[in-house]
Amino acid sequence: MNETPPKFTQPLKILVVEDNAIDRRILETMLHEFSHPVSLLKSAETLAGAIQLLEQHSFDVVILDLNLPDSEGKDTLTSLSARYPDVTIVINTGAYEDELGINTLSYGAQDFLVKGKYTAYVLHKALHYALERKRLERELTAAYQRLQETQSQLLQMEKMKVIGEIASGIAHEIRNPLATISYDTTFLQACLPDRQEQILSGDPAKIQIALTNIREAVQRANGIVNELLNFAGKTSASSSKKPENLNEIIEKSLSLIRHEFHKKHIQVVGRLDQSIPQVNIDRNRIEQVLVNLMLNAVHASPQGGILELKTYCQTISEDHCRSYNLDKSKFKAGDTVIMCDVEDSGNGILPEHLQKIFEPFFTTKRDFGGVGLGLSITKSIMENHNGIVAIENITDHTGVRARLVFQPCG
Ligand SMILES: Nc1ncnc2c1ncn2[C@@H]1O[C@H](COP(=O)(O)OP(=O)(O)OP(=O)(O)O)[C@@H](O)[C@H]1O
Ligand SMILES: [Mg+2]
Repeated sequence: MNETPPKFTQPLKILVVEDNAIDRRILETMLHEFSHPVSLLKSAETLAGAIQLLEQHSFDVVILDLNLPDSEGKDTLTSLSARYPDVTIVINTGAYEDELGINTLSYGAQDFLVKGKYTAYVLHKALHYALERKRLERELTAAYQRLQETQSQLLQMEKMKVIGEIASGIAHEIRNPLATISYDTTFLQACLPDRQEQILSGDPAKIQIALTNIREAVQRANGIVNELLNFAGKTSASSSKKPENLNEIIEKSLSLIRHEFHKKHIQVVGRLDQSIPQVNIDRNRIEQVLVNLMLNAVHASPQGGILELKTYCQTISEDHCRSYNLDKSKFKAGDTVIMCDVEDSGNGILPEHLQKIFEPFFTTKRDFGGVGLGLSITKSIMENHNGIVAIENITDHTGVRARLVFQPCG
């Protein structure tokens, strides 16, 4: 044979497990013919003897006869491969066990040889490829483990991201009712009896309003917590959409944050059409939408600015369909919808920001406590109501128009 046998990188440590003395002798002779150094060559006649040697030495490869006095067939292989998964095993079968030999590859052996049908050269090559296959198998297993670890890390990161988003959203939404509670309790404190006078210094009607506001703010915060539980699948989600008067909800939302307008002396101008039909909505969620839009308007407004609130019925034009990119299955030209505009007199939105304002966490107010979730939450609430929210710069004066579009009931 002219072909040069493959080279091993290290001297080999080999264990021969063979109960037939002649077969063992043949193998040992062939191994001594190796051009490559063998640093350790041991032999065992039984499975127990093999295990004993494997406990004492570390072998690179085991040449294994399957039928031994104390173990038969594939059990011989599985007992060794399960116990010593890092050892390369080459099966040395009798000619009549050809099929069993092939099957052993799926039970953890790296190659099989048929007794009497191989030369020293073939044995050498078989050992070389078996060791190479084992090395690749180890690398593949390690790569698979790394992949699994990375996968679970990614899953963890994804979970953390969602938890982060929920936490910020909750913080944002609960801050609004907390602001109402904080404002009204300060007001009530100021109404408490003066030590000398021992009489209430506040107007009872105003005290009543403040207490009602506090109760409703607590309900709203509670509603948000319930929503979180719904989201987490702890309670069953129940839709509380019903026909509502949008104007009433606007008045309510305004009263919740009126102190914000007072602080900046912003004048609120209401142009609410009292004849608009009812809309099928979840009152708390639309209140949340309006508070988000009104707070954005207050933040953008200068001291003494103007905020206009409008409601009206509108026939949808082709122009509306195009500019608001309306979903044809929900809106088409000629339909009558209910619109609600929140218009401020601030500086407007930079054209390069207009594309981003609905992205979660986009904010130009980070230094003032902005989270950048108000509009993304607003958008998802409006989508849940089959409506839309559109934000645009007003063209005939400075400021922003936030427009909500609802379908009428029925
Ligand atoms: N009326 C407005 N005038 C000017 N800019 C606005 C107006 N409304 C929204 N924006 C811009 O859109 C961005 C995103 O608004 P969004 O309500 O989502 O977040 P935010 O107000 O920054 O923070 P928060 O999560 O507390 O609401 C704002 O940071 C601001 O730059
Ligand atoms: Mg906001």
